[in-house]
Amino acid sequence: MKKSSEVTRFASTIKGNFLSKEFQSDTQRASSLSISACGIKIDFSKQLWTRNVVDELISHHLKDGDVLAKIRALFNGDKINTSENRAVKHFLLRAPVGAFSDPDLAEVVQVREQFLSFAQNIYQDESIKTVVNIGIGGSDLGPLMTYQALSPGGKDAFFVSNVDPADLSNVLEKIDLDSTIFVVVSKTFTTQETMLNAQRVRELIVNKYGIDAIAKKFVAVSTNLELCKAFGISSDRIFGFWDWVGGRYSLSSAVGLSLAMCFGRETFTQLLAGMHDFDKHLQNASPDNNLAIWHAICNVYNINYLDFDALAVIAYSAKLKEFASYLQQLIMESNGKSVNLTNEKITYKTSPIIFGEPGTNSQHSFFQALHQGTTDIPIDFIIFKPEPDNLEETELVANALAQAAAFAFGTQAQSDLTLERQITGNRPSSLILIEKLDAYSLGVLIALYEASTIVQGFIWNINSFDQWGVQLGKKLASNISQNIKSNDLSGLDSSTAQAIKFLF
Ligand code: F6P
Repeated sequence: MKKSSEVTRFASTIKGNFLSKEFQSDTQRASSLSISACGIKIDFSKQLWTRNVVDELISHHLKDGDVLAKIRALFNGDKINTSENRAVKHFLLRAPVGAFSDPDLAEVVQVREQFLSFAQNIYQDESIKTVVNIGIGGSDLGPLMTYQALSPGGKDAFFVSNVDPADLSNVLEKIDLDSTIFVVVSKTFTTQETMLNAQRVRELIVNKYGIDAIAKKFVAVSTNLELCKAFGISSDRIFGFWDWVGGRYSLSSAVGLSLAMCFGRETFTQLLAGMHDFDKHLQNASPDNNLAIWHAICNVYNINYLDFDALAVIAYSAKLKEFASYLQQLIMESNGKSVNLTNEKITYKTSPIIFGEPGTNSQHSFFQALHQGTTDIPIDFIIFKPEPDNLEETELVANALAQAAAFAFGTQAQSDLTLERQITGNRPSSLILIEKLDAYSLGVLIALYEASTIVQGFIWNINSFDQWGVQLGKKLASNISQNIKSNDLSGLDSSTAQAIKFLF
């Protein structure tokens, strides 16, 4: 990625009262730095830039053609996941018939119909009260986040992901096995954590109800149909997806089965509709009006021109408690890369560190450091319209807007404060304003972050769809497990050997 020299020069001139001065001198600043799509409006006016800078960034990083060509290649079904020689076609998972000319769409629609009608039967089956999703990473975080965001649903759902047996035990204590269905979700059906948890539940079920009960109590979602069958799950309860769906981009496939069971077909379809509408926006809107492109370019500006290292995502909704965890995998597993598409080491920064907690709770934990600490961290504030006359929701929104103003302007208007009471301001944030938290708008929001992540990867010329960095740890864990079981510590480094001696 080559930086724009014009924007580099501009970035070096930003002073401590930049935002205050900009807002004073330009009454149109908020409207000229805001864009909307699919019911979401993002106000980028509290970022440390001007409309000219945005235009130059878009023209420099996109209009040359490379990034736009990559967006076209994505929707064309080209094998843009080069290290795994795979296409990246999660956009098909939520597309209606005829929305794309891709030859795989017909099969996608057919499988979607199968898993949605299965899920709808479970949704209507009053004898099933609880759904337990067993999966990790992309097979857990999206469904978990969405379940919390849309709850309450028609059934209770629990999510078991950690290999720590306490995770499953906590859930088993709360549920009635008789009225529970277990959904084993794993793209590969080999992930250690998921398989150990699934085996433990399998033993429990066989001991309590006998071997034939496996067929009734389990459902599987995977690309590895043979291993699902070997586990004992009957073919009509195995729902597949495709190698061109990355784990962290898989929520809209059958990986969302638990959600469809809990909320019903109609709600899940609304989620897909929101995602699809945003996919179409990414594909068709011009860069000047493209929310994904603006959001991506804003992150690139903050990371590569202003040298920030993190992004805090603060949703003012208790129901989005897991949103930042979900984004951690989506963004950091996608863009935490340091080689480009031609396998050369890159010299610029890529994925920011993503973290967040809902507002207002985050205000009472880490916001102090964000206001007065030595590290500046840009923030995405996610804010929903309050219900009319709802006192608490009005307070929630007032808090969000107050925080964004405090980060932008600090105490600059008060000249009589001692140093420890001064808040410098000039810390950047965006306001992501949404009509309401429902399945459709959540779908839009998810697809926005997916698209922004992908566009950032395109600008950085990296592969946002592989995750080779997590393989080494998996291999070493399996080796160390053998060392522990055989009580043979030879070949281990002295720190690992000492820890094993202490722990076992
Ligand atoms: O953490 C690595 C990873 O491969 C993720 O990309 C994936 O979402 C997760 O493990 C779970 O994988 P699977 O769905 O195959 O069990």
